[in-house]
Amino acid sequence: MKRLATIVVFFILIICLDASAQSNDAKMKIFLDNLMKKMTIDEKIGQLNLPGSGDIVTGQASNSDIGKKIREGKVGGLFNIKSVAKIKAVQKIAVEESRLHIPMIFGMDVIHGYETVFPIPLALSCTWDMKAIERSAQIAAQEASADGINWTFSPMVDIARDPRWGRIAEGNGEDAYLGSLIAEAMVRGYQGNDLSKNNTIMACVKHFAMYGAAEAGRDYNTTDMSRVRMYNEYLPPYKAAVDAGAGSIMASFNEVDGIPATASKFLMTDVLRKQWGFKGFVVTDYTGINEMIDHGMGDLQQVSSLALNAGIDMDMVGEGFLTTLQKSLKEGMVTVAQINAACRRILEAKYKLGLFDEPYRYCNEERAKTEIFTDASRKEARAIAAQSFVLLKNNNNILPLKKSGTIALIGPLADNKANMPGTWAVAAKFDKAVTLLQGLKDATGDKATIVVAKGSNLDADESFEKRAGMFGKEFIRDMRPAQEIIDEAVNISKNADVIVAALGESAEMSGECSSRSNIEIPQSQKDLLMALLKTGKPVVVVLFTGRPLALKWENENVPAILNVWFGGSEAGSAIADVLFGDENPSGKLTATFPQNVGQVPLYYNHKNTGRPLGEGKWFEKFKSNFIDVSNDPVYPFGYGLSYSSFIYSDIKLSNTVLNASKNITATIQVTNTSKIDGKEVVQLYTRDLVGSITRPVKELKGFNKIELKAGETKTVTFTISVNDLKFYNSDLKFVAEPGDFKIFIGGNSRDVKEAAFKLL
Ligand code: BGC
Repeated sequence: MKRLATIVVFFILIICLDASAQSNDAKMKIFLDNLMKKMTIDEKIGQLNLPGSGDIVTGQASNSDIGKKIREGKVGGLFNIKSVAKIKAVQKIAVEESRLHIPMIFGMDVIHGYETVFPIPLALSCTWDMKAIERSAQIAAQEASADGINWTFSPMVDIARDPRWGRIAEGNGEDAYLGSLIAEAMVRGYQGNDLSKNNTIMACVKHFAMYGAAEAGRDYNTTDMSRVRMYNEYLPPYKAAVDAGAGSIMASFNEVDGIPATASKFLMTDVLRKQWGFKGFVVTDYTGINEMIDHGMGDLQQVSSLALNAGIDMDMVGEGFLTTLQKSLKEGMVTVAQINAACRRILEAKYKLGLFDEPYRYCNEERAKTEIFTDASRKEARAIAAQSFVLLKNNNNILPLKKSGTIALIGPLADNKANMPGTWAVAAKFDKAVTLLQGLKDATGDKATIVVAKGSNLDADESFEKRAGMFGKEFIRDMRPAQEIIDEAVNISKNADVIVAALGESAEMSGECSSRSNIEIPQSQKDLLMALLKTGKPVVVVLFTGRPLALKWENENVPAILNVWFGGSEAGSAIADVLFGDENPSGKLTATFPQNVGQVPLYYNHKNTGRPLGEGKWFEKFKSNFIDVSNDPVYPFGYGLSYSSFIYSDIKLSNTVLNASKNITATIQVTNTSKIDGKEVVQLYTRDLVGSITRPVKELKGFNKIELKAGETKTVTFTISVNDLKFYNSDLKFVAEPGDFKIFIGGNSRDVKEAAFKLL
């Protein structure tokens, strides 16, 4: 009886919630119908315009060119303006001086935190911790919204398998399954369950689509791929973000199948709206419309109409819509219905953000003073950063270090504030970032002596170093001969008990337009590393990087490597936490580390080919391999060590036959065989042995991040259902095909236990 009552209450609740959503939608519709009736076609086109505002100077906004445009109803929103005061000043013009008083939306690239900066997204993904990732987005939303922002150009969910591409730093690695979960977590974190709350902001999923598959990893380059690859391997994270309710989407710069994404009706209308039912609005990337002139798609009027026809709603920076749509309308290249639809979607977003109720909802100076870069947020960022680091090597348990004796901290990244937060940290205050030196000092106090030397320039080539140090992240170049700089570091290290070498990439060596054809640590730093190793002292490399690097030599010669990516504003403290064992590393790679750049793209879920190598072989004539390097990575997907050690039992399956009505469970026991409590990401992969299209050799299907006390054993259970085995076949139908499957469980994609089952 009690159960029946609960069920009845539950259904009444659902009906009420549904009714209230409907009544909200109905209210919004009435409101916007009324508003749009009053709007001229110019005012509607104005809403589609997202101009580049530069940095607005408080007090001067009113007289500026942008102020004039806003007053004339020619601006739908602005982006990358920092501070409540500035945002309020321009919002005031829109709300008080434009004819219809329509408020503007304010965007920003809040990519991995606001002033409290979290690790770069690639690093965050290595936590495999969805709660932590969601929390990072929530804190970012809290801080950004306290400073006037209500829309973020994040998450970036582009799958990337090419570490030459600098923007691999901004995504979640190479796997579509993990990438989808992260996409959902980020959207939840930013948007919460109510966009109109003043501490949530609207997400913008980017870059739609396949931006990460640029040829040769060269930014903005051509993408061309089969539909089955798209649907199975690249599109799922965007779809997951849409399903999670993302309010907006950004078109990518690249072309897909010969059509720039910005003009792709297939992507923007057929996939996004018709197949996925996306209801939000689509914005171009920065001058994405204008760039179609260089793509060879026509003049500004032509490319602007192509974009609107494809399904683009808002034009970022280029003002192609603003300056040509009226004419195109008269000439029949676009329709009023298309302009109305785009305008309505943008107004709907503003409505949902609560801007029509209260245009200054996100402009509370008090919040700006008290909710940004708080001790509490920094503490969370520090803990999350520690979880994102990946321990790549730790011979003879060199790590963790003792908080005593003398530590020589050497390298161009040892004490560099501006390079700690990483790429795309628009709101970061570099002077507040904690460097590694600071982190080590804070952790050791007067218990240890820390000696420091630069040891080398970032790179021997001065002009390269300039390109790798833009946007306030310049390096102060040491003009002495390289050998003299190395000698000084070696001398300083002579009395040390351990050498910590802070090496790798600068923040701007990854990110937008920072593709590299050589993905090794720069030679000047390698020379330094060789000299440090020659001292015979234990050497720990603290590796800064925004991409997988080719570390074959380092893996063979350096006893300990802790990959810390770019850990955000609290990176220095978090690195110290891990180096000294206050935190046990648990990060696992989400992108493969190759042996050399020639192996790229190298990813774990590749196909088998018709000529796979024999078991245990690295080269066989007429097999799919290279004559100069094996097919193996240095560090595979899912890999990462811990100060604990784990062993896995064999897999037990509840049944070896799976069918549509009956799932199977796979259980495995994981034991922490060490004396240190630790965390392990237990990973589940499957392989579909025979398919109507070729299937990957492994596919991630589940994972569980568990905590194990020293000596503890835990049983981990995964349920596998027919849905987990579905893929898009050559008709793009999402199906599971009966037949034989393998299942693998392990601590990375290479070292796994194996079992088999059948799908009936
Ligand atoms: C980037 C986007 C970014 C936009 C706005 C572009 O160059 O590709 O990711 O959101 O600029 O700053």
